[in-house]
Amino acid sequence: MTTFHDKVIYQAYPKSFKDTDGDGIGDLKGIIEKLPYLEDLGIDMIWLNPFYNSPQNDNGYDVADYTSIDPLFGTWEDFDKLVEEAGKRGISLMLDMVLNHTSTEHEWFQKALAGDKKYQDYYILREGKPDGSLPTNWESKFGGPAWSKFAETDQYYLHLYDKTQADLNWRNPEVRRELYKAVNFWLEKGVKGLRFDVINVIGKAEELEDAADGVGKSHYTDTPIVHDYIQELNQETFGRYDDVITVGEMSSTTVKNGIKYSSPKRHELSMIFSFHHLKVDYKDGEKWTTMPFDFLELKKLLDEWQRGMDVGDGWNAVFWNNHDQPRANSRFGDTENYPVETATMLAQTIHLLRGTPFIYQGEEIGMTNPRFDDIDDYVDVETHNAYEEMKRKGLPEQEIMEAIKEKSRDNPRTPMQWDSSKNAGFTTGTPWLKVPDNYTTINTQNETISKQIRDYYKQLIQLRKDHKIIQEGSYEPFELGHESVYAYIRELDDQKLLVMNHFYSEEALMDIPKALLDMKAEFLIGNKGERKLESLFKLDPYETVAFLLKK
Ligand code: GLC
Repeated sequence: MTTFHDKVIYQAYPKSFKDTDGDGIGDLKGIIEKLPYLEDLGIDMIWLNPFYNSPQNDNGYDVADYTSIDPLFGTWEDFDKLVEEAGKRGISLMLDMVLNHTSTEHEWFQKALAGDKKYQDYYILREGKPDGSLPTNWESKFGGPAWSKFAETDQYYLHLYDKTQADLNWRNPEVRRELYKAVNFWLEKGVKGLRFDVINVIGKAEELEDAADGVGKSHYTDTPIVHDYIQELNQETFGRYDDVITVGEMSSTTVKNGIKYSSPKRHELSMIFSFHHLKVDYKDGEKWTTMPFDFLELKKLLDEWQRGMDVGDGWNAVFWNNHDQPRANSRFGDTENYPVETATMLAQTIHLLRGTPFIYQGEEIGMTNPRFDDIDDYVDVETHNAYEEMKRKGLPEQEIMEAIKEKSRDNPRTPMQWDSSKNAGFTTGTPWLKVPDNYTTINTQNETISKQIRDYYKQLIQLRKDHKIIQEGSYEPFELGHESVYAYIRELDDQKLLVMNHFYSEEALMDIPKALLDMKAEFLIGNKGERKLESLFKLDPYETVAFLLKK
């Protein structure tokens, strides 16, 4: 079994990474071109978001053909070359498997529409209720009802996401076989990592019923049968290899299920993404609101997941950013006054935790939310649905745009900022999504802010390789109640790793107990230069520091 505890995974969003043919959309050739950059960073694997044939209503998560490459992104030759060239640099690929739903343009859905019964049973079709209302009262995660009319029939098809993303019927063994075939196809092409999109919602109940909360999550999230399906997926596909790393994207999951999905004993997945810690700036649980983040809640959640997964032998993917999340430094720090401290502190918080770190393109150079003023500068389907919904509710334009600037999924999707030339060196054409204004200072060629942040990431990545305690050490919180510092201790054999991360701009003090002071403390890494451990330890704004303690 390959270990993944010493690995760091980099997420490249192909559409926005690097465009080589001037159409304004990133491509596979662009990723090949930038492999030296990724090698220099020190990462082990690149997760690529979907680049399969797709109408792009949800940026490729509406897959029309699982075993294809959309010409937008390149050719088979490009793909093979990418695997080969990355391999030469010790980097492997992780692909995104969107197995909960297909695009309504997928051949299966099209055949179903044309009346083919076999393919109708690939999807979840139901009659409306006798009173003419929808089969259930469930909501789509992108707003509106989760059901749409199935052609001119009396039936409706289920879509937990956009109406062009029809949920597959995993109860049908033939559907599962087809999906496993697609996964194996990519494994045979040399792919060594798989990221399973919203995999914990594939197991819908047999009888679909109205939800008491009018939303419906409990009717399809983490149902017992999901675990059976994932075990089967494992056996039929990646479980046949001993060097494939998998991660499941888990919507609204629990620690208890997280352990089940990722404990090696259960033969499900290598690790999971959970998202509770990224909802601490949702007012009353509502995404499209603005609120300063709740630091104590953030710590509580990180701690609960760290401790729970440690005790239960589960494994977390640790991350702040991805293609669905606003930039973490814009959310949890001060990018105006402390851009370097903010970015490095957030990075260290995650990289020294127990779990496998994921870096999302651009965070290693301090990219921020773009804060576009005009709704027309946003492309994302969820963002536009939310905009319309807030308009319908009569909210003032300014309040709506403020929520969008902070929460839109386009925040992380802006083009990668390579240099200070036009369009940040991303494309010679017109980028599909605007480049943020700050590209002239925040870019990979910048010798001040971006360079300092990237150098720090390189150190963190290297430290994980050098220290078993970072890979394997246990986790326990330290001074969990502290109002501005999130600190923790990792432990392995007779060593401890003390990590302190300060999330605010006022000075903070930490009391270091005698038992720790009595150990031999070696400064490991920090964003304020070398420090000495002392009983009343003072932290500067957004300071992060780690000490290795030996008996
Ligand atoms: C996941 C993806 C997101 C996509 C959704 C539906 O949450 O990360 O981008 O819209 O699944 O496939």
